[in-house]
Amino acid sequence: MAEKQNLADWYDEKYGKMHNPPLFEQLGGSGAVDAAVDIFYRKVLNDKRINHFFEGVDMDKQAAKQKAFLTMAFGGPHNYTGLDMRKGHAHLVTQGLNDSHFDAVMENLAGTLKELGVADNLIGQVAAIAESTRDDVLGR
Ligand code: HEM
Repeated sequence: MAEKQNLADWYDEKYGKMHNPPLFEQLGGSGAVDAAVDIFYRKVLNDKRINHFFEGVDMDKQAAKQKAFLTMAFGGPHNYTGLDMRKGHAHLVTQGLNDSHFDAVMENLAGTLKELGVADNLIGQVAAIAESTRDDVLGR
């Protein structure tokens, strides 16, 4: 699939029907997404079910990529230039990444948004978008 520079096009094609520009604004725009990603990774790195996958990963770079990706996923500007979800996680699948780990990430994401006071219906919309990447992240 897509080379890095075509990721935004690939994303539009694959998940485009879920694009919802107002969602990004309703969440509070880029400042809110930045705050959410910082809290989210703090939770992930403290979560013994999944933190071993992040050993040796440069978390500053990782958080920056995740911010750009989530901004795009929430219908904000397209600045994401990282790997697609299948390629970006393929080496983790060979290390045993499975549904239980994906569920743990979903839990941390929802918990983060709840902590930030995001309304339940918006948390549901974000969860649906994150959920739509499950099969790609898990390589199936
Ligand atoms: C909602 C689902 C997910 C999204 C949107 C997501 C997003 C991303 C993005 C954008 C990257 C950067 C890719 C690149 O290198 O260009 C990445 C890498 C990574 N993800 Fe995820 N991810 C998801 C699920 C997971 C899960 C379930 C785990 C493990 C529990 C995980 C662990 C990692 C790790 C460890 C990396 C860094 C790999 C490395 O640099 O060696 N991700 N993810």
